[in-house]
Amino acid sequence: MNTALRDGAAIPEIGFGTSPLKGKDAIRAVGSAIEAGYRLIDTAVNYENESEVGEAIRRSGVERAEFVVQSKIPGRDHAYDRAVASVRGSLSRLGLDQLDVGLIHWPNPSVDLYADAWRALVDLQRDGLVRVIGVSNFHPHHLARIVDVTGVVPAINQVEMHPYFPQVALRAEHERLGIITEAWSPLGKGMNAYGEAPVRDAAAAHGVSPAQAILRWHVQLGSVPLPKSENPQRQRENLDVYGFTLTDDELAAITGLARADGRRFGGDPDTHEEM
Ligand code: A2P
Repeated sequence: MNTALRDGAAIPEIGFGTSPLKGKDAIRAVGSAIEAGYRLIDTAVNYENESEVGEAIRRSGVERAEFVVQSKIPGRDHAYDRAVASVRGSLSRLGLDQLDVGLIHWPNPSVDLYADAWRALVDLQRDGLVRVIGVSNFHPHHLARIVDVTGVVPAINQVEMHPYFPQVALRAEHERLGIITEAWSPLGKGMNAYGEAPVRDAAAAHGVSPAQAILRWHVQLGSVPLPKSENPQRQRENLDVYGFTLTDDELAAITGLARADGRRFGGDPDTHEEM
């Protein structure tokens, strides 16, 4: 199943998250994920595993054209020329001629150059080095600024999203602008969402695992989840969410787990810095 993007491209409805996998573990986990059927693979310069992702793709024997490989420009490389060099570096480490999806990893307010990085991605897309361009961890005001500077709307905004942090307002803005939401930490790792009644009840009603209920919630809301697992059985389980449909009430109950305090793992993009 694919999700259509504003620029005519399409990406799989579920992708594989690779942070914090490194070294041999990354090659092994990405390899088994590809065997399980993942074709959208999410990496970043700052994950320090692009070479391993490239290696796993080559070892898989699956045709290059089947993959959607996405990487992200770090905060230290937002200046225009550095952003171009950063993407070229990603291509070299991945062993690819073209990046399928290029994202700006964080807006990094103290650097205040994310609009320059966006101009670089717009030009890299024009020159064919990047197929689809987008951002990550952007608030609506960050989106507005880069659209203002370039007239180009990102195809994707990859943000933290899980039942405790369902991003209701941001997703409404994405819908208005025609942006696809990708979800990092889609399962809400370590925050016990599996044990919450709306998740447990939906899973029991459909005879699936709590993780499958949460991933199905993403797919039905139109967000593209990027679950990470090192375990081949869980990797398969996380793709196997097409044999059931959650009801509107089940979807709403899971979204209702949103914490009033906005509980999240990552920092607020207005203050959080990742170089
Ligand atoms: P593991 O790699 O041992 O499978 P998120 O993608 O939200 O960040 O969550 C990732 C965490 O959730 C990892 O620790 C992963 O552990 C675990 N995980 C991934 N898929 C499942 C699943 N289907 N059931 C239980 N835990 C899972």
